Amino acid sequence: MTARKLIIAIDGPAAAGKGTLARRLAQALDLPYLDTGLLYRAVGRRMLDAGLDPETHPADDQARRITLADLERDDLRVPEIDRAASLVAAQQKVRAILVDTQRDFALAGGGVLDGRDIGTVIFPDAPVKLFITASPAARARRRWEQLAADPAAPDREAQIARVAAELQARDTADAGRAVAPLRAAEDAVHIDTDHMTADEVLAEALRIVRERTGCPGSDCPGSDCPGSDCSGTGRLRAV
Ligand code: CDP
Repeated sequence: MTARKLIIAIDGPAAAGKGTLARRLAQALDLPYLDTGLLYRAVGRRMLDAGLDPETHPADDQARRITLADLERDDLRVPEIDRAASLVAAQQKVRAILVDTQRDFALAGGGVLDGRDIGTVIFPDAPVKLFITASPAARARRRWEQLAADPAAPDREAQIARVAAELQARDTADAGRAVAPLRAAEDAVHIDTDHMTADEVLAEALRIVRERTGCPGSDCPGSDCPGSDCSGTGRLRAV
């Protein structure tokens, strides 16, 4: 059979564990990975660098100018860009410009994409859609740890509370916007990662991939694979 290329859509609120899962899943399945949030972050970065307010100024010009170098900047994961990204992401024209970039990325060789609207807008026909959630408290703690904060900081709890408030504000904006709001596709499988390790989340995701695609996993016979959406490599590794 001619294997089709597998597309896996991963959506969910901020800091729920989408990125960690998406990266590991892509590695396990030998698929390319795209963190679509980086696209919006790069547009937000360009707006701030140009002295333009992303809340009031159209960002489509900046979205058209995004290059690989913009995505590789090391100042995209900072609080001011969290907010700027969410603001430009609410602009219809910005989203329209970035649709093709996201689709083209995975159409050739398949891929794992994580974001807010992958299963609902970018790849509504993806055979595997995951919606990753965690409680606000778990998400705030994880994001605080990612920010390389000092675990012994005397105002640790206050810092975590500030992160929680930022996540809450951004999720409310992302879920409430008119275009491509954050929501689970009807056929998405939900995974609540609150009490799961990263390994457990990966194992569960791989189980869902096998179930959804008919792929037999580590026993994959390669070119005779019965999986309807096999990645084509016969390389769904054992977990
Ligand atoms: O890593 P985190 O979950 O905090 O955010 P991100 O995935 O990097 O996304 C940053 C912002 O970009 C989000 O708050 C959304 O407003 C926007 N975004 C979006 O609208 N659609 C996507 N597919 C990905 C991100």
